[in-house]
Amino acid sequence: MNLVLAYSSKEGLEKEYRRRYPAGDSETPEDFFAEGDSWTTIRHILETLKGNGHRVTGIEADEEAGEKIKSAKPELVFNIAEGLFGDFRESYVPMICERMGIPYTGSGPLELAICLNKARAKEVLAYNGIPTPAFRTLDPDFPVHMDHFPFPAIIKPVAEGSSKGIFDHSVVDNGEEAVRQINDAFLKYRQPVLMEQFLQGDEFTVALWGNGDQIEVLPIVAIRYDDLPAGARPVYSYEAKWIWDTPGKPLDIFKCPASLTRVEKESIESLVRSAFRVLNIRDWCRIDVRMDQSGKPHILELNPLPGILPKPEDNSCFPKAARTAGYDYAAMLEKVIGIAAERWGIRT
Ligand SMILES: Nc1ncnc2c1ncn2[C@@H]1O[C@H](COP(=O)(O)OP(=O)(O)OP(=O)(O)O)[C@@H](O)[C@H]1O
Ligand SMILES: [Mg+2]
Repeated sequence: MNLVLAYSSKEGLEKEYRRRYPAGDSETPEDFFAEGDSWTTIRHILETLKGNGHRVTGIEADEEAGEKIKSAKPELVFNIAEGLFGDFRESYVPMICERMGIPYTGSGPLELAICLNKARAKEVLAYNGIPTPAFRTLDPDFPVHMDHFPFPAIIKPVAEGSSKGIFDHSVVDNGEEAVRQINDAFLKYRQPVLMEQFLQGDEFTVALWGNGDQIEVLPIVAIRYDDLPAGARPVYSYEAKWIWDTPGKPLDIFKCPASLTRVEKESIESLVRSAFRVLNIRDWCRIDVRMDQSGKPHILELNPLPGILPKPEDNSCFPKAARTAGYDYAAMLEKVIGIAAERWGIRT
């Protein structure tokens, strides 16, 4: 096939950042560039797609992306572009494709924007009776009230990923600590903040792919906290993802397939399928799930643009789940292309 790989590289994001803030910005938080793919990842995906027999043009999702996609005339755009600025950054490439009538992998602009905004996604889940932790959305322009909120809670910026804004200290035990963290998050991330009931049971992340009645749940990944430094909260935080886990000393944090009883496995699978369906996800997604103290699973959030770092030691969960199901990296990419192509009615 003639493909475009649409990506947001870390360098591209930095370039865009410098264009917006030529003189720098003293308030940029340390985790600002947590999103965006490295050249190693992008090159690996390009090479793998070529190895699978495709013609492929790599395109940075910058302000010229529309022109570049148009001139590449792809049959399908493989979209992994997360964008940088604003609530609609993940919708940029799908919107361009929609405008030009070009098929692309993954969810549409509306679904990506809703899932990026965790509060909106939780509203859709809650409306549809799908368990998700109790929450309150706090806006910097309105007073913050703590009344009757069940603690412990976790405070997070409403529209981030890759654990941006989720630190060990984001878990709070009372209203006073919560207010401090909320104000800190307003200042740093300049967006509304989600205060969410902190669930203390086991955590899982679940990869799914397919559409309609063909949705398949891949082997469930369990997240274990035993390897975190002593005293750390049981949270897959920014520190756990990007500071404590290094290639030299990788954290042993995942177990795939998770050890679950049949009943537990089925209840998680049925939960993630419902979330995938009510949020209108297309082709693939990674969904975070955590149990409450009674063992009932809840949806934490959905990642319809799942990270796909190629090397097993990179601890990237979608590829890990696919590998456990027997799909190596090349087969995983091909499967996603096949699912998207079928949905768009393209012959591969
Ligand atoms: N309500 C909650 N209860 C318990 N733990 C939570 C809750 N919300 C978040 N966490 C912990 O914080 C981690 C990061 O939260 P979340 O998945 O919302 O962030 P993210 O940055 O969007 O993650 P990703 O890297 O998957 O995009 C979770 O994996 C989990 O360990
Ligand atoms: Mg997550």
